[in-house]
Amino acid sequence: MASALKTIAVLTSGGDAPGMNAAIRAVVREGIANGCKVKGIRRGYAGLLQEEIVDMDAHSVSDIISRGGTILQTARCLEFMQEEYQKKAADICRKHGIEGVVVIGGDGSYKGAMNLVKHGINTVALPGTIDLDIGCTDYTIGFDTAVNTAMEAIDKVRDTSTSHERCSIIEVMGRGAGYIALWCGIANGAEDVLLPETYDYDEQALVNHIIESRKRGKQHHIIVNAEGIGHSTSMAKRIEAATGIETRATILGHMQRGGSPTAKDRVYASTMGAIAADLLAEGKTNQVISHRGGKFVYDDIETALAMKKELDPYQVKICRDLGNAYYKV
Ligand code: ADP
Ligand code: F6P
Repeated sequence: MASALKTIAVLTSGGDAPGMNAAIRAVVREGIANGCKVKGIRRGYAGLLQEEIVDMDAHSVSDIISRGGTILQTARCLEFMQEEYQKKAADICRKHGIEGVVVIGGDGSYKGAMNLVKHGINTVALPGTIDLDIGCTDYTIGFDTAVNTAMEAIDKVRDTSTSHERCSIIEVMGRGAGYIALWCGIANGAEDVLLPETYDYDEQALVNHIIESRKRGKQHHIIVNAEGIGHSTSMAKRIEAATGIETRATILGHMQRGGSPTAKDRVYASTMGAIAADLLAEGKTNQVISHRGGKFVYDDIETALAMKKELDPYQVKICRDLGNAYYKV
């Protein structure tokens, strides 16, 4: 394809996510295939403001598809919320001949991308976050890997929980969203799952459920707790005091953000990265790429940001039914 733009760049912003490297590789290699020069911007919008810009070639993205994290590194940048710095960033792009930027990040990063567009830089954004908390898309880069990582960790906690006949609270990431917790709840067969979207903070009901389960002969009681609820350690102490059952809390934390991406994350991130490079080559701007209803689609950033989604109520219901959990939906 003869590209409408001569030089494009790629950056990663917000929390890192496994698969970001696959997306970077795809932007670079598809960009080159389209006849563009491709640059890498290090450390997100913060690095852009510091002019941390490097030339990329096909070789510079060799051997990264299987690596977690982001070779460009990432950052959060409060300054970039201000118009003065957004204009400065666009001027820096022009100074380096960058006409189009691919932004890989969450919906906060999309807002940054929208502001680059406002100041004359063509921009396409990709959903990079383990949280799955972006309204316009059924898939985000890194979620699949993070859920698999958390699932494997919870299986291990479950083994020791059974041996010691304990109750175990395992806290998973997701900022304010319960997607990782819900998927682990189903995948690990948890007895209870506490989701920010549905939890009513009725701890007595939870205690009653643990006691009933023990009477029925359950040898462990796994509670997956979402980060949006948090306080797992103090919750464990209260539950142990109320039930008389030894209770431990495990906070999985940042391990969920690392590791080699799954096949799904590699393939979807590669596809999205290539689409982003193609859209820029076609002269398109202000776009977000999503996976919705089984297809890769793209929308204006404003339209994408206005979309809302909820946890799938059927998934929430079966999570409760299959785990015989106490909580109400
Ligand atoms: P994520 O992209 O994962 O949602 P953040 O919400 O932390 O993560 O956003 C990442 C970065 O995007 C911020 O540090 C900031 O630089 C930029 N950003 C977020 N919101 C805005 C905004 N309203 N205007 C401009 N830039 C923004
Ligand atoms: O957005 C991804 C995420 O890992 C959230 O699940 C979590 O709340 C947050 O980032 C943690 O951010 P930090 O890297 O600043 O600790």
